[in-house]
Amino acid sequence: MIYSRICGTGSYLPEKVVTNKDLEKIMDTDDQWIRERTGIRERRIVGEGESTTTLAEQACRNALEAAAVDPSEIDLLVMGTTTPDLVFPSSACLIQKKLGLPDCGAMDVNAACSGFIYALSVADKFIRCGDARKALVCGSETLSSIVNWTKRETAVLFGDGAGAVVLEASDEPGILSTHIHANGNHADLLSTEVGVSRGFAGIEENDGRPELLMKGNEVFKVAVRTLGRIVDETLEANNMDKSELDWLIPHQANLRIIVATARKLEMSMDQVVISVDRHGNTSSASVPLALDEAVRDGRVKRGDMLLLEAFGGGFTWGSALIKY
Ligand code: UT7
Repeated sequence: MIYSRICGTGSYLPEKVVTNKDLEKIMDTDDQWIRERTGIRERRIVGEGESTTTLAEQACRNALEAAAVDPSEIDLLVMGTTTPDLVFPSSACLIQKKLGLPDCGAMDVNAACSGFIYALSVADKFIRCGDARKALVCGSETLSSIVNWTKRETAVLFGDGAGAVVLEASDEPGILSTHIHANGNHADLLSTEVGVSRGFAGIEENDGRPELLMKGNEVFKVAVRTLGRIVDETLEANNMDKSELDWLIPHQANLRIIVATARKLEMSMDQVVISVDRHGNTSSASVPLALDEAVRDGRVKRGDMLLLEAFGGGFTWGSALIKY
């Protein structure tokens, strides 16, 4: 039996920090509201010359270094992003070139905030079936490019960043299971409304860019319910009790959603990796960013049982159960 296991993690954040106080100066919001409703204190935003693929390149380099894997050994790159540099070539192809990877398969997966879990699931399947031995999986986003910086309902929530893992084939798990789901019936609750094929009418309202639109309150309710279900599904599929989990590494959209999931799992908040306070919601980058942070500061250790989960636009949602 072939499994995939994580042999290195990496991440990268832009240098520019935007605090809640900074946002108070440009819109009708306040630090207290943002902290109490979301848990966010600050976020990172790309500067001149930075983009989704420049962040991803650094995160991938850091993951390759941690794994002691040379780029020439990679035979698959899967990239979760909903804010690609270009329509095409895919961000994965642009990163493939930057890293000097061989002519391996390279693809983008657009599953909004669940993008990394989806990408991990795809790469895991390639390794399990023997078509790849080593894979790079990345989540990278520049949500700052699609929020409307005059709208407090969305502008305060998001940030930019990237995270990555290197997977390798192994006789031992590794990734025990991944589950991915989607339900397009809720597309209108979290979307951009404009796009290449439908056209870009209205983008002048957002400085010539598509605008991220969200009915936050409704998304919140579905997210809490759905993440509860995916947690049950994951534990049942692995015949595992929640007490066997060491760490919850959730998508970082809102601290209140994370607390609700931890409560359902009867996990102490000390077993939950939180980065939303410093990163905001970085969509598909949030889970690998949080994972890398906890690996590097020594919280997550080899042999620990990790539950990764995410929920996002589509709606999409998913989980990965990992013996690290
Ligand atoms: O990552 C993908 C999935 N996304 C999510 O999971 C996000 C889910 N949703 C959420 O996290 C929350 O719904 C939000 C953080 C987006 C909003 O929190 P909420 O507690 O649901 O607030 P609300 O939208 O019900 O708004 C409450 C009030 C409103 O004022 P009134 O109508 O009560 O007078 C808003 O206008 O808060 C006001 N408000 C703000 N006030 C200050 C909304 N945004 C802000 C703001 N600063 N930035």
